[in-house]
Amino acid sequence: MNIKLIDIPKILNREGNIAVLENDVVPFDIKRVYYLYDIPSTSKRGGHAHKKLNQILIAISGSFDVVLKDDKNKQVITMNKPDKGLLISNNIWRELENFSSGAVCLVLASEVYDEDDYIRNYKSFVAYINSYK
Ligand code: TYD
Repeated sequence: MNIKLIDIPKILNREGNIAVLENDVVPFDIKRVYYLYDIPSTSKRGGHAHKKLNQILIAISGSFDVVLKDDKNKQVITMNKPDKGLLISNNIWRELENFSSGAVCLVLASEVYDEDDYIRNYKSFVAYINSYK
């Protein structure tokens, strides 16, 4: 599956750390940044794939699980470190769940918001990725 955990370069300091994302670690031009916050622990977010958009998710605070699927494989990644980024390429189904109290999920996206880029039905997603295999 076309996903990757990225080590975000950081500057460690006993007075507090800095994590820096520059274009040497982000494999796309960032067109949008948004973040999920105040997320009830029972929430399930995501539940879609993107046709073109690539993104990096970062657990800036707290933790959550990311369930990743294509038509054959499933992988669950727990995000709980602010110096790790999860690169999710296009055409991968994702679900976000098990948010801890105070969790904040930062998202760096390669495209501006476009509802037409979403596939929000898993069966349609499987049909879509099989249509160009
Ligand atoms: P969605 O991407 O489905 O959220 P999540 O994957 O976190 O569950 O977006 C939820 C709603 O917010 C949906 O109606 C689209 C809207 N939205 C925007 O208008 N702009 C944005 O940049 C994003 C990410 C979502």
